[in-house]
Order: sequence, then structure tokens, then C-alpha cells
Amino acid sequence: MPVYQATVSAPVNIACIKYWGKRDTKLILPTNSSLSVTLDQDHLRSTTTSRADASFKQDQLWLNGKVDEIKEGGRLATCISEMKRLRREFEEKNPNEPKVSRVLVPAIMHAHLLQISSFHVHISSVNNFPTAAGLASSAAGFAALVSSLAALYNLPATPSELSLISRQGSGSACRSLFGGFVAWQMGEKADGSDSYAVEVAPREHWPDIHALICVVSDTKKGTSSTSGMQRTVETSPLLQHRIKHVVPERMKAISKAILEKDFDTFARITMQDSNQFHAVALDTDPPIFYMNDVSRSIIALITEYNRASVESGGKIKAAYTYDAGPNAVIYAPKENIKEIVELIYSYFPQTEPFKDPFGLFGAAGPKGKVVD
Ligand code: ADP
Ligand code: DP6
Ligand code: CO
Repeated sequence: MPVYQATVSAPVNIACIKYWGKRDTKLILPTNSSLSVTLDQDHLRSTTTSRADASFKQDQLWLNGKVDEIKEGGRLATCISEMKRLRREFEEKNPNEPKVSRVLVPAIMHAHLLQISSFHVHISSVNNFPTAAGLASSAAGFAALVSSLAALYNLPATPSELSLISRQGSGSACRSLFGGFVAWQMGEKADGSDSYAVEVAPREHWPDIHALICVVSDTKKGTSSTSGMQRTVETSPLLQHRIKHVVPERMKAISKAILEKDFDTFARITMQDSNQFHAVALDTDPPIFYMNDVSRSIIALITEYNRASVESGGKIKAAYTYDAGPNAVIYAPKENIKEIVELIYSYFPQTEPFKDPFGLFGAAGPKGKVVD
């Protein structure tokens, strides 16, 4: 018996212009466009395996080894049924598809033109980083889910087409279908058909930009992104100002900065937008606090680091940004990363060794600062 199975992993993306607010909660249509960088290392990824089989009695999902209920009409159910719909359309359009089209996993031949769209699916997903802690697990998670079903179903869909579906799992997930610098165009249509992700520039355009992830807390956040942003839409007057008068200009300016590799402008806008997003959370009734004292100390540290550089005639050297949680992401040109890590280590001694993908420090981590 052939096995129909595919495994795909997807990385997180961290927004520079934040998505926060929905105009349609069912279709997940945002109140503003957003822009992010997809991380390209292996540290923050969701890996998802999907399998279709005639013997399965129902669709089922395991998240990090535990069954995660697929609620009727919920986001998981929507993504799965949308992917089955694409497969059905594909089967209808390709009645003469070759019997065997490709090998997806070793020793497993995939995709006759069997109507696997009618089979139930079992999906297992594992995150190699904290789930629901403000490190964009929903983005990597739904991007990996949709991508693994696209591979299972052998669909010729483009990343933008798949982003229309992953968007309905979690808004930020539409941007993880692309690598590099990615915009989610909010769109105007009521059916959401123009609300998808597009590439602003590939990773290779600006390889010098690196991201440093500072895990301040890996516990689950108190207010999920979904419920937090809904409360903001309902109660925050500042959000209305932001979506009308601030974000459209910032989207244009940061896209230009990326295309011109202008780190100074990129960094200023990124920090401003993170600050405004957290201001909007605070402007919500009751207020939402995603950052903690350590988060704020890191902001102070980076602000001081940049001030010292600019006052001595240099440039901005780093940009912080925080999603809906206390964890910092610092974007910086590669040449500054070692200095920034040492700075952070000197103020916040670490209990865990530094993950050093670029070999900046050698085996021992930042010298003298690692606490056993
Ligand atoms: P985060 O800041 O980590 O994105 P959210 O509150 O936005 O937190 O979303 C967390 C939720 O996303 C989880 O409770 C789960 O429902 C979903 N999720 C996270 N990882 C995955 C995954 N790998 N596959 C499917 N769903 C996932
Ligand atoms: C602060 O995409 O997690 O990370 O669409 O309700 O699943 P849902 O929310 P989600 O919100 C992300 C918010 C953010 C900013 C961003 O990633 O743009
Ligand atoms: Co999320």
C-alpha cells in the first residue's frame, strides 16, 4: 500500500511593522498592512508531517506530541478544508496526471491520481522553540501546516496563493511562506482574495542583516495575540490613528529602506513601530502588558548603545522589536552582533550557553560571561 505523507518545516517571521487588529475575524483580514523578516536559521521552526489515509476516521492534529482539538469551523479546520478544496480542484483539472509524480520522503512514492482529497489527514507538528510565548509560533506553525499539505497534495500553488490559506490559520503565518523581507498587503476586498503576502526582497538582497533572539521568558503569554488584538480594536482610540495615519507611510518608507539597504532608516522605523504597537496594547481597555522589566531594560541598553554611536558621529547600530510577549528580537548588521551579544551578556548573565550559528565566539560562548 502506498503511503501518502509529506514533511515540511517553516521558520518564524518577526514583524518590523506590526499586524495588530482584524477587520474580519473569521477570514483574518487585518486593519493594516505589515512587514516582516523571515528568520533563516534552524533555531525557530515548526516541522509538520501530514499523512492522508483511507483508513483514518477523522482529521487529527498533534502539537508537540499532544492532541490538539480541531474545532469545527475553527482555524485548523478552515486551513485543512481549504487545502482539501485545492486538491479536489487539482484532481478535477488533471484527470490524466501521471501515475507517479515525485518522491517526497525517502522510499515513499507519492501521488497517483488517487482522490486523496477525500481521505482524512493526520498531522503532527513540533516547534523547536517556545509555543505561544511571543516568538511567532502561530506564524511558523500555520505556514508549516499549509506547506506540508501542499506537498502531500502535490499542488503547484505559489507562496502567495498558499499565504491566502495560512492567513486564515494565523494572520502572521501568511508572511512565513516567503523567506527574506515580506509584506502582507492588507487588501480591500470583503472576501479576502487580495489580502496575501508578497516578497519585498529576498534574503540574499541584504544578507548583512542578522537577528538576535533574546528569550526573556519562554512561558505562555497571558493574553493570546488573537484575543489581545480584538480587545484593542474594540477599545483603543490610538489604534484608529495608527492604522489611518501612521502605518501606510511607514510601509512605504521601510520598503524603500530595505531596497536601498539603509539600516539607519530601517532601524528607526522598526523601533518606532514596536513602541507604537506596545503603546496601542497599553491603550487597550483593560490594558495589555506584553513587555516586562527585562524587556524594557534591553530597550534602554540598545537606546544607549545607539546614542553613543550617533553622538560620536557614527550610525544606528541595532534595532529592537518585541512581538506580543516579553522576548526581544534585535536586528543588526553582522559586524555589530558580537558587540551586542557581549553587551547583553554583561548586563544579563546567562544560565544557558549562547547559540552561536556564525562561530562568532568559538566553543566557550562570550568570554567569561557564561554562568554555569
Ligand atoms: P505566538 O506568539 O507564539 O505566535 P499566539 O498566541 O499567536 O502565540 O499563537 C499560539 C497558538 O498558535 C498556539 O496556542 C497554537 O494554537 C498555535 N500553534 C503554535 N504552533 C503551532 C504549530 N506548530 N502547528 C499548529 N498550530 C500551532
Ligand atoms: C504582535 O498572527 O499571532 O506578532 O492572526 O490572531 O493568529 P492571529 O494573530 P498573530 O498576531 C501577530 C501579532 C504580532 C505582530 C506581527 O507578527 O505582525
Ligand atoms: Co502568533
